[in-house]
Amino acid sequence: MSRLLILLAAMLLASCNFDDKAPGAGKSMKISADLTKDQAMKLGDRGNCFSCHRMDERLAGPGWREVGIRYGNDPKAAFLIASHIKSGGTFGWNMGYMPMRGGSSLSDSEIDALAKYISTLH
Ligand code: HEC
Repeated sequence: MSRLLILLAAMLLASCNFDDKAPGAGKSMKISADLTKDQAMKLGDRGNCFSCHRMDERLAGPGWREVGIRYGNDPKAAFLIASHIKSGGTFGWNMGYMPMRGGSSLSDSEIDALAKYISTLH
């Protein structure tokens, strides 16, 4: 039992990666708290997000930068954006319906990191 706790603690620590300069080149795609643009693009690619989104223009869905601009400095922006991506649906853009997780199999922490990145775009 205590071994399990130690393992869990180690996993938690391992998920707290404060080095945002990590190149993120590894196959495991370790997510740091703040993604670089390159990391965000790779993750969006893997999640197939760019079949409906672009960074700076509209496609089937809003450009990610305009999403960041809409939320402005709302301290809950990253959280709200993440929960919208996870649930899918409509969020007032009048552009249709986004499938749950964009139909991807990105993990919660990957979506959280991507949402945080999108919230910083202005
Ligand atoms: C099949 C098309 C499609 C895919 C794939 C897709 N989206 Fe979307 N997304 C949409 C549409 C459409 C909207 C706008 C819904 C509306 O009109 O409110 C949207 C909205 C959003 C928003 C705005 C949320 C808000 O709070 O305003 C974000 C952020 C977003 N998508 C991120 C993603 C990410 C990340 C992925 C990949 C994991 C993804 N999308 C994949 C269609 C898609």
